[in-house]
Amino acid sequence: MAYENILREDEGGIARVTVDRPDKLNALNDAVIGELQHCFEALRDDDSVRAVILTGAGEKAFVAGADIGELAKQTPLQARPLAQKGQHLMDTIEGLPKPVIAAVNGFALGGGCELAMACHLRFASDNALLGLPEVTLGIIPGYGGTQRLPRLVGKGRAMELILSAKPIDAAEAHRIGLVNKVFPQAELIPATEKALRKMLGHGPVAMRFALDAVNHGSEMPLADGLDYEATFFGLLAATDDVKEGMTAFLEKRPAHFQGH
Ligand code: COA
Repeated sequence: MAYENILREDEGGIARVTVDRPDKLNALNDAVIGELQHCFEALRDDDSVRAVILTGAGEKAFVAGADIGELAKQTPLQARPLAQKGQHLMDTIEGLPKPVIAAVNGFALGGGCELAMACHLRFASDNALLGLPEVTLGIIPGYGGTQRLPRLVGKGRAMELILSAKPIDAAEAHRIGLVNKVFPQAELIPATEKALRKMLGHGPVAMRFALDAVNHGSEMPLADGLDYEATFFGLLAATDDVKEGMTAFLEKRPAHFQGH
């Protein structure tokens, strides 16, 4: 599939996906959602890709939200499947078996904030503004924002962000745990790449199981989540990577994992 609204650039096991509608501050219209869905399914199934960066084109916006021009034309019957299509994309991104970092390089509002929240980590530039302003438009967050935000920052803070509709800057987002790290804008992509390169040195099967255990286990009752974790722990003991990781430590050398 040829993309018109996003870019995918691969280098050394890391794919960088850029939402590329800078004249509309990278707003998520139907075409962008469709291309991102296709792209993330391809990334999921592509063994040459071991980590992903998601960012926005230009220096002003990550993604300034769902496309309000399109939202304005929704009928009640169209709005529910539209939300579900966006939610499916967010679930696909969150479910990738390899780390995905959102490099939040400016406005991350509404659907843009929801997109960032679906990624496993969020690194922000110091000019970033994050928020869920949907109620100012008479709608609510529909791409998972009412569900992922409280899971990330707690119910009280999520209520405040959603009900006040007021965006917060990168420093505040970092303070409340909505973003993991903050960098000057010029350093955002290099720092994100550097963090992912380090992760590429870790056991690939362990990384995959860790993502799964946190994503699915955190939705289970504690006893079931612990059981889920222990099952992965047991499965890993059967891999060559575990032997390599332990042996490398004892031999005081870097581990060379094969991914099995
Ligand atoms: N949907 C559609 N178009 C959008 C958009 C969105 N979510 N956000 C920005 N744009 C468009 C603007 O309409 C404008 O297009 P135009 O040049 O054809 O008029 C262009 O992007 C630039 O935006 P502009 O508003 O001129 O930039 P700004 O610097 O003055 O303001 C924002 C930036 C982010 C504060 C402002 O664009 C905004 O409030 N956007 C909507 C944010 C929002 O509510 N998102 C949640 C949607 S559910």
